[in-house]
Formats: sequence, structure tokens, C-alpha cells
Amino acid sequence: MSTTRQIPLSSPWLDEREEQLAIEVLRSGRLSLGPTIDRFEEAFAEATGAPYAAAVSSGTAGLHLLCVAAGVGPGDEVITSPYSFVASANCAIYEGATPVFADIDRRTLNLDPAAVEASFTERTRAVVAVDIYGYPCELDELRAVCERRGVALIDDACEALGARYKGEPIGSHGVSSVFAFYPNKQITTGEGGIVTTHSEDEWRLLRSLRNQGRADSGGWLEHARLGFNYRLDDVRAAIGIGQLEKLDDILAARAAVSDRYGSLLREVDGLELPCVDDAEHVRSWFVYVVALPAGTDRECVIAELERGGVQTARYLPCIHLQPYLRERYGFREGLCPVAEEVSARTLALPFHARLDEDDQAYVAGVLREALAS
Ligand SMILES: Cc1ncc(COP(=O)(O)O)c(C=O)c1O
Repeated sequence: MSTTRQIPLSSPWLDEREEQLAIEVLRSGRLSLGPTIDRFEEAFAEATGAPYAAAVSSGTAGLHLLCVAAGVGPGDEVITSPYSFVASANCAIYEGATPVFADIDRRTLNLDPAAVEASFTERTRAVVAVDIYGYPCELDELRAVCERRGVALIDDACEALGARYKGEPIGSHGVSSVFAFYPNKQITTGEGGIVTTHSEDEWRLLRSLRNQGRADSGGWLEHARLGFNYRLDDVRAAIGIGQLEKLDDILAARAAVSDRYGSLLREVDGLELPCVDDAEHVRSWFVYVVALPAGTDRECVIAELERGGVQTARYLPCIHLQPYLRERYGFREGLCPVAEEVSARTLALPFHARLDEDDQAYVAGVLREALAS
């Protein structure tokens, strides 16, 4: 099949409102450390039900700062999911710790709490749990294990803005969470991230760490601790405010797109769709990832979709099998069998808030044909 139709993997929803808010900041001259950052943080804290939020330059920066705040350092181990984006492990490696990968639950694709428990050693310093593809992880079980062992729990909610766990939004549960705003996320600031916390002390520390270690009181050239330049600037914060204003619409539109994919793909033989919500877990739709039937040649399917102008991505390769981690720590196949099996079969389809019905039907049609050939 050859076509001129092109369906991108993702696309942000931005309009005149974000333009207007960004222009206001540009005209104000307060481009960094200005009042727009505070406004964005307050709006974000309100949207997630967290008392405090500290905006940062990326989700990765937020995860790194929470590792610093947890005291992660050389000789420590940090347990995380192999089925995530590399930043979930890199945040610990930056501080000289060793990542430890616990296997995932076959249905939710999130960390299996029993596997986490089995991965603890006396060197474990923190657990970075991930709400993969916007589906809430087993927060209470993981928190209970971490509390019992006296280690920090960090919630990598970079893909999960708007998700709900046990009826309340991710961010509101007392655990420090990190959200990310790359353009494929539910809301975008271009680049950017934010940490929500329930501790005023941690919030103050995060604000200092992101700002070169400056303290609340003290001069511009006085540095209380080793810090970083992980600040979000005010133009991005303004875009974030515009995005938060339409968050409910964005989440509803993304949920509707996922429902339509469900109807279009439910009957395809052997194709596994994302797990459904239950009373305790409500997904915020980040991507639409399917698992191809066992035995399917994924590369052929990808090539066929590409020929039809449908962009896809191999979400997600196992982190422990990335070249630099194999080299550095000697990780090999077989370490996390569930994640490895899933990872070889999963594929992200085009997904964004304004993907229209016609394009979705087309994607489903090309996928069906590719699987049948
Ligand atoms: C699960 C997860 N963690 C961390 C990140 C890192 O976020 P950023 O790209 O903003 O650094 C991402 C973003 O892709 C992610 O999906």
C-alpha cells in the first residue's frame, strides 16, 4: 500500500489562549523566576489535590531532585520498573546509585509489589514506581512496603496527569509525584515538569535545588547547597496555565479517542488492548499501546503501517536491556521475563486529543490488514 495520508503518533492541543498567555509574559519582561511560575504551581497543585508543587525544567529533572531529596547516593540501590522510560532509572544513576529492576504485572504493566518486595536488600534506598501509560500503580501496597523498610517512595507520574487511584487524583495521596510536559503528554509546556509534594520542607528543598542551591532567604550569589539549574521559565509556565485551563476537555477527548480504538480493535484476533479501569484505578490516557498477537513479526506490522502513513513507536524497550545498562551493570535477557515478553510485542498507535474518527478507523483498518497478511 502506498498513500499520501500521514497520521502522526501524537500532537499537542494548543490554541490562541496559550499564545495570549505566552505573549503577556514576553511583554512583561519577567521571563524567569517571575510570578507566572507561582501561578502555574498553584493551579497544578489544585488540579492534582497536592498541597505543594515545584515546577522544574523536565520530568527527568524532577525525578533526579526527588532522588537527591531522598539522600540517594553511591552504594545505594534504587528499585524501579524495567518497563518504563529510561529516566525512571537514570535519576538514581545520576547520584551514583545502582538501579534494580523488579518485574511488572502482566495486566497493568506496572511494578508487581511482590517483585518489588523480593528485590529489597540492605542497600535499597528508594523505590521509583511508575504509572505507566497513565495507569495508576499499586501505590498503597508499595507505600506499605517502603514504610516498613524505611525507604523513600517516588511516584513517576510523568505519564499520568489526571489519573485517579482509589477515587482521588494521582498527586493527592501523600507520595511525592513527578509529572512531565513534553509535547506528547496530556498537557505540554514544550519541555517541562513539576513535582508535587505533601511536605513543606521538601517543597522548599526542591525550590532551592532547582535554583542552583539558593535558599529562600539570601542573595543571588549565595548558595546554601549543591544545586542545579532545573528551573522552568515563565513563558513555559504561561503555556502550562493555558493547558491546565483546558485539562478536563483534553482528558475527556483522550478518553473518547481510546474508547473509539477499543470499539474498532476489540474483535481483532489475538490483539491485546490496554487493561480496563476498575474501582481503584482510573487511567489518564497518555498513549494507546496494544500488544500484538504472540508470534507476530512486529517489524513487518510497523513497516506495513508506515507504508500506509501511520506513525507508530515500539513502546517500550526494557530499560535494563539498553546498551549502556548492559555494559555498565551486566544486565541480560531473563532478568525480568514478564517485561521482556510484553516489550517485544507492544506497539503505540497514533494517539492525541483531536485524532478524528476517520483517521482512527483508517489506522485500525491498516493494522487489521497488516495482521492478516
Ligand atoms: C515514565 C516517564 N518518566 C520520565 C519521563 C521523563 O520526562 P521528560 O522527558 O520531561 O524528562 C517520561 C517522559 O517521557 C516518562 O514517560
